Amino acid sequence: MAGCFVTFEGIDGSGKSTQVALLARELARRGIHHVVTREPGGTPLGRELRALLLDPENAIAPLAEMLLLAADRAQHVEQVIRPALDEGAFVLCDRYVDSSRAYQGAAGVPSEAIEQVNRVATGGLEPDITFVFDIDPGGALPTGGADRFEKRSRDYHAAVREAFLRIAREEPERVVVIRVDGRSPEEIHGIVLRAMARWLE
Ligand code: TYD
Repeated sequence: MAGCFVTFEGIDGSGKSTQVALLARELARRGIHHVVTREPGGTPLGRELRALLLDPENAIAPLAEMLLLAADRAQHVEQVIRPALDEGAFVLCDRYVDSSRAYQGAAGVPSEAIEQVNRVATGGLEPDITFVFDIDPGGALPTGGADRFEKRSRDYHAAVREAFLRIAREEPERVVVIRVDGRSPEEIHGIVLRAMARWLE
């Protein structure tokens, strides 16, 4: 079976990590070779970058943030994603370029810059399918103990959410939006599996 690159997107608290785990469990049950990974932080270098990026003590300019995330991604594509796809594995990746489009775009980085840099960082590697788990940004975002992204305002997260929905409208062939509230994780998992039917046959 050929490899398949699946990405999971959504604002913080959308339940995407749970869906990554449920899909991984199902692939394991079916004996399908797969790799579970995430951005930022899918490589040893990436884990260092992740710590820098999430630390609320660090003041990072939006453009610098976008470039650090792209460095994480370049390393991740080279060391983890491409090799796994070349072996025919399924790659389940918690966040990818769409997160940069949405989060760094909402922080004011021009979209042409995000597109250019990420084209270079990924060598043009695009997911076969992307899930956007859609949830309203909660009224009460965490304050104490929150990371540098979680500390941003509700308006920021609303803009990020809108950006994900816009990407989905622009690329309906690739991006599947799943409305999360009112649905159990198992129900959402069922929708994910149906959307992936063509790769799972
Ligand atoms: P993530 O590990 O998904 O955090 P959580 O599990 O709390 O949802 O991502 C960490 C943060 O990094 C998240 O707030 C979004 C941000 N991020 C970007 O802003 N741009 C990106 O390209 C990526 C990959 C992540």
